[in-house]
Amino acid sequence: MSSEKPAVRLALLGCGTVGSEVVRLLHEQSEDLTARIGAPLELVGIAVRRPGRQRDSDIDPALFTTDALGLVKRDDVDVVIEVVGGIEPARSWLTESLKAGKSVVTANKALLAEDGATLHDAAAEGGADLYYEAAVAGAIPLLRPLRESLHGDRVTRVTGIVNGTTNFILSSMDATGAGFGEALDEATELGYAEADPTADVEGFDAAAKAAILASLAFHTRVTAADVFREGMTGVTAADMASAKEMGCTIKLLCIAQRGEDSAGTDSVSVRVHPAMIPRSHPLAGVGDAFNAVFVEAEAAGQLMFYGRGAGGTPTASAVLGDIVAAARNRLSGTRAPSESSYAHLPIRPIGESVTRYHISLDVADRQGVLATVAGVFAKHEVSIATVRQSGRDEDATLVIVTHGAPDANLAATVEDLRSLDIVRSIASVLRVEGGA
Ligand code: NDP
Ligand code: HSE
Repeated sequence: MSSEKPAVRLALLGCGTVGSEVVRLLHEQSEDLTARIGAPLELVGIAVRRPGRQRDSDIDPALFTTDALGLVKRDDVDVVIEVVGGIEPARSWLTESLKAGKSVVTANKALLAEDGATLHDAAAEGGADLYYEAAVAGAIPLLRPLRESLHGDRVTRVTGIVNGTTNFILSSMDATGAGFGEALDEATELGYAEADPTADVEGFDAAAKAAILASLAFHTRVTAADVFREGMTGVTAADMASAKEMGCTIKLLCIAQRGEDSAGTDSVSVRVHPAMIPRSHPLAGVGDAFNAVFVEAEAAGQLMFYGRGAGGTPTASAVLGDIVAAARNRLSGTRAPSESSYAHLPIRPIGESVTRYHISLDVADRQGVLATVAGVFAKHEVSIATVRQSGRDEDATLVIVTHGAPDANLAATVEDLRSLDIVRSIASVLRVEGGA
């Protein structure tokens, strides 16, 4: 399809898992994209680290450069697409681009969560668009609904499964009874887990996404450092079996919640940790490496977003959507909605987060033990909802589920329990979410 309008010129930084799919889709859907935008898209350069690397033979080798900064500084570049990742040099490239008035599309959750403020400030200074739909939950249209569709509403809570690798591992543990190590090996063999899975299994990836979601949902700058983070490497086959007995499963959740702190001030709590959720909860059925995010807003009620949160092609879909939006804005001389961070809500400390808990402890099986253990919970004002005991010779395993209690009270309870002679070990402490 021909177009009267001059091309919108794109610089691509990175041509790996996501970048190579962006190039493929730009090529394959070129006619449709031109029709939808009203002008063609022209890729003028691709910055990579190893230009000699074997790549898709359809890409013109003359496009490749190792000089990313030189590429973004070119006068003929309108839109910079960053799919390299990491903090530096990506931050310098994007700041340079935005200040110069170039639109930016990025999938870089690590950078946005660590120092999104620098990018937003540069976008404001340069009057440029900053789009990052692919940074959270891959293909799922989630940030635009939070950034635009829900701007007339008041979001109260965002609960999500935003890491595909860990969801695959936990779903596999739930389905087969496997332990964490065995399920991780399977995830690695199938290509879900990276060679170094630390960012996924320790919750860093989900924490970055949680910070981005909380910032958008609550009109407040939230960084990864504000997010309470606990990984899922400690979840055992026994925990999963216990969850099943309670009609639950275990998921690595990101939870961002607006509410009052202990002083009655409107505030935000953001946390990432494994949690038991009832099988009837909408997130419990999210299996395999899928992502899903459950949003609660005062007027809209409950909303659920579901889909593929990772992978080259699904992530490229979100990148392409942003490219189309940025290109349209340039042609019409308009801008995307800028950052909304007017609320400046304080971050509520994790100690004030109220949750129910599942505690599994090995104790001596003799008279008065249960009463002593219950007394420790009572001392710290943690109310017990249920107790299950199973015996083994002279020892017993107690599984205690509490009513909602502040995290600080539960932590003090666990510390006191550890110091009791009758408590052999505390096998696990897991949060319970969602009405189980
Ligand atoms: P890859 O590691 O597959 O690709 C990274 C690309 O960046 C490669 O092409 C590499 O070049 C290039 N690169 C690295 N360093 C430099 C440098 N100094 N100068 C120029 N180019 C450089 O990463 P992904 O495609 O998986 O991820 C890209 C981004 O997308 C990250 O921010 C990631 O968090 C995000 N993301 C990824 C998802 C996924 O499923 N993979 C999902 C959602 C977001 P070379 O090819 O020469 O090595
Ligand atoms: N490692 C991430 C995941 C990739 O497993 O979900 C997508 O951000």
